[in-house]
Amino acid sequence: MKVHVGTNEEISKLIADEFIKQINTKPDSVLGLATGTSPLLVYSNLIKANKEGKVSFKNVTTFNLDEYIGLDGTHEQSYRYFMNVKLFDHIDIDKSKTHVLKGVDDYEDYAKKYDDLILKSGGIDLLILGIGSDGHIGFNEPGTPFDSLTHIADLAQSTIIDNSRLFNNVDEVPKKAATMGLKSIMNAKKIVLIATGKNKANAIKDLFLGEKNEKIPCSILRDHKDCTIYVDDDAYSLVKNK
Ligand code: F6R
Repeated sequence: MKVHVGTNEEISKLIADEFIKQINTKPDSVLGLATGTSPLLVYSNLIKANKEGKVSFKNVTTFNLDEYIGLDGTHEQSYRYFMNVKLFDHIDIDKSKTHVLKGVDDYEDYAKKYDDLILKSGGIDLLILGIGSDGHIGFNEPGTPFDSLTHIADLAQSTIIDNSRLFNNVDEVPKKAATMGLKSIMNAKKIVLIATGKNKANAIKDLFLGEKNEKIPCSILRDHKDCTIYVDDDAYSLVKNK
């Protein structure tokens, strides 16, 4: 794993530049996308670059990592809604080529087909990940098998509490999510992970220094051949001061 340390502004710009380079090299790239707070500035940079004519998403296909079970795509906290509002509505992407797991209706069947759909699209060229304070990637909580494909997962209590900041109260946070599995994530050709803030310091320490096992889902990334970790000083503090 490579590592870049910088401010959120600096690392978000570097990651956006990776996406722009990827798409300009291969206009029909397949991208893997995350929601949450971590990638927000990356997406703003991509919107800006698109508006300035530096990159076009016309032929790009996207697959999102996860979606809450129980929320449909019009719900303000659903990840489909997030992606539309934070990125897709502002760029020249063909929305029919944007895939987000389903949270309602045939969500189980759709999740089962997701890895095949990714494979048929040619596989993910570049995937952006955030990381949970408990070391989850996607919604693969501690204990998820390393060989897992896309599935329906139970959210850890710590994740429900972390994510309750975006809901009216903790009881409104869904308890389950559809998520790409750890194997699905590892199948991406290139991975970038972004983490900022003290709340992520333990997870980043585990990522670099913890034992590699299923109790630490993110530790699987050490086996990926092209994975770069982008962190700010706070998130990296427990690794740097070791
Ligand atoms: C979201 C996802 C999650 C988040 C993680 C961090 O699609 O896959 O793993 O990346 O929970 O969330 P934030 O960025 O909100 O701290």
